[in-house]
Amino acid sequence: MRPYNHKPVLLAEVLAALQPAPGQSYLDATLGGGGHAAALLKALQPNGKLLGLDADPNAIQAATAYFQTFGPEEISPNSYTLCQTNFQHLTKWAKAQEFELFDGILFDLGVSSPQLDTPERGFAFRTDGPLDMRLDPTSDFTAADLLATWDEKKLADTIYLYGEERKSRQIARRIVERRQRQPIETTTDLANLVAQVLPQSFKARAKIHPATRTFQALRIAVNQELERLERALPQAVALLRPGGKLAVISFHSLEDRIVKLFFRAESGYGGNEASDQPLRLRILTKKPIQPQAEEIQANPRSRSAKLRVAERICAEN
Ligand SMILES: C[S@@+](CC[C@H](N)C(=O)[O-])C[C@H]1O[C@@H](n2cnc3c(N)ncnc32)[C@H](O)[C@@H]1O
Repeated sequence: MRPYNHKPVLLAEVLAALQPAPGQSYLDATLGGGGHAAALLKALQPNGKLLGLDADPNAIQAATAYFQTFGPEEISPNSYTLCQTNFQHLTKWAKAQEFELFDGILFDLGVSSPQLDTPERGFAFRTDGPLDMRLDPTSDFTAADLLATWDEKKLADTIYLYGEERKSRQIARRIVERRQRQPIETTTDLANLVAQVLPQSFKARAKIHPATRTFQALRIAVNQELERLERALPQAVALLRPGGKLAVISFHSLEDRIVKLFFRAESGYGGNEASDQPLRLRILTKKPIQPQAEEIQANPRSRSAKLRVAERICAEN
């Protein structure tokens, strides 16, 4: 039994799309527990290598322990380098670790099951914990800080844009009223406050917990998830060898839209080229690949996953 309980999503589809081969060089920009990375590493032996990044030091530890459960003929201890960093710095880390160009790069965005399931990390509204939500626990800005300091308009805009929550203004108003009396410090505190704002009719119709969208918005804001993804994607393309492949799994429409538009701009899809840039990608997935019913049944958290894949087509950066 693996101590870090995260099932890699769309694993067979990722391998089929990337086609890792012996001797190649790969980047896993979101290592997590190393589920995808282990499968890649096995296919890269002998002589292949993988650079794995994660903002969360627990993920680095878990992936290291997981790789060590395999014999050296399956995963050689010299075949991987793991670094705790945000993927927005991936060029710097690839250079520092003496990787030049990659044959394949994977982003499996968002949070892992252990992050969601550890109440102290503050990602979950169903369990009580501090309002933390940092992917990198050494960074200095938590969800509690955000709720304590952002003004009502910024809160409302964030909850609306990143949570796609229609009642964002009422939720922001309630947050501000409440913090004037007493700080909002725990996940259940916030979840209850949001649930009070949403009308019974809405709650009865909704398939999701009323606080789902607000929690998603805060997590995205605390970790600047969208900005960092936008910064990382062009770096990833520049680090791909011609013919190398870039695979991105996203879990909500905001991330997926960024990936889709980026792929389109870099491939000239529909005349949609980035103005003066040479085209660097060919899209391999006209429509995103989604999990089969069996995978969703075995792993309900995979249900919103969308995989997009593109291939590097020219040598210039
Ligand atoms: C869905 S999990 C990846 C799971 C992994 N593919 C596996 O098979 O175990 C996403 C991981 O990406 C990390 N992550 C998310 N955004 C990141 C960023 N901007 N920089 C570095 N790591 C990030 C999270 O800490 C988390 O461990």
